[in-house]
Amino acid sequence: MTNARQQFRPRGMRSLATVAHEREFSSAISFMRPVERLQMNQGNYHQPVLEKEITDLLAAQAAGVVIDATLGGGGHTAALLARAPQLRVLGIDRDDAAHAAASIRLAEFGERVRLVKATFAEMAEVVNSEAQWINKEPIVGILLDLGVSSRQLDDPTRGFSFRADAPLDMRMDPTTGESAADYIARVDVHELVAILRENGESRFAGAIAHSMKRRLPRTTNELTACVEAAVPMAARRRGHVATRAFQALRIAVNGEAEQLASGLAAAMNVLSTGGLLVVISYHSGEDRVVKEILHEAHTGGCHCPVVLGCVCGAVQRVEVFKASAILPSSDESELNPRARSARLRIARKVAP
Ligand SMILES: C[S@@+](CC[C@H](N)C(=O)[O-])C[C@H]1O[C@@H](n2cnc3c(N)ncnc32)[C@H](O)[C@@H]1O
Repeated sequence: MTNARQQFRPRGMRSLATVAHEREFSSAISFMRPVERLQMNQGNYHQPVLEKEITDLLAAQAAGVVIDATLGGGGHTAALLARAPQLRVLGIDRDDAAHAAASIRLAEFGERVRLVKATFAEMAEVVNSEAQWINKEPIVGILLDLGVSSRQLDDPTRGFSFRADAPLDMRMDPTTGESAADYIARVDVHELVAILRENGESRFAGAIAHSMKRRLPRTTNELTACVEAAVPMAARRRGHVATRAFQALRIAVNGEAEQLASGLAAAMNVLSTGGLLVVISYHSGEDRVVKEILHEAHTGGCHCPVVLGCVCGAVQRVEVFKASAILPSSDESELNPRARSARLRIARKVAP
């Protein structure tokens, strides 16, 4: 007898490349049999951050499709579908493991969910390929809950964390691109210095980068040893000495900066007028990019002096909800440490 994982793998995780050949399946998940043991495990996949705030916002939208562009374990999507019967969700993630978990968790919603394996930079292509399922309904919301899930971080085989020794991989989609170990071996020391600096490792970026190039780490423990060898004990800050190096490599290996810029641009294009763009970021570099791109869309790129008013004909594309980001409550941060660094920004599309 095949288990549920084997059963849904061929159809549940649809890549953008094969999506066109899979039209015969009316729903990517509707055929799945829930498996009690797996379902229980999915409960711990990832605790959704700012779940109530996000569900409140999106559930107030008129009937249509919400794109959960960072599906993960499907936590936000499940909460939204349970709350808002007028909505359907198109879920996107680049990680097969996320699809496996979300497929099971969301099976109860049948045809109201469609899952596609893709990056969120490919959102426009996903929307085109899913035109039949979308069925001309408006895209009334898009959620980007950036970064990695707790499951990805905690999976001792994925190499995202210094907490367990593992091959130094760090790819959200291990079927494509290069591992962190191969990336370190390929790039020159200047590129390593730059990515470490961009991630706030200012004083020891050079020493850490040289240490990496000398030792060419292939495992998470070896990477930690590179950082420890480069940063004197007296200069170590609170938290683990290798935190920033791990994050910087993860961002580089997954092209997260490029993905974010392209994903936000795609999101603003595919949203229907009146639709909400909801973005949660987890570090200051990410939040700065979100803030700048939303500001640019808010002003329409207008740089005319305020005293003159706009004379360049720029068109405002979005209305930004608040100048500052929304933070989780202290209660949520206490219960879910991952929420502590979260910043939520929201915009409504007001013009094509
Ligand atoms: C913070 S988790 C999302 C958790 C989700 N909201 C939940 O409630 O379970 C981020 C997810 O986005 C995915 N992801 C990150 N960057 C992506 C990208 N550029 N394209 C597609 N998926 C991405 C990751 O694989 C991960 O599963």
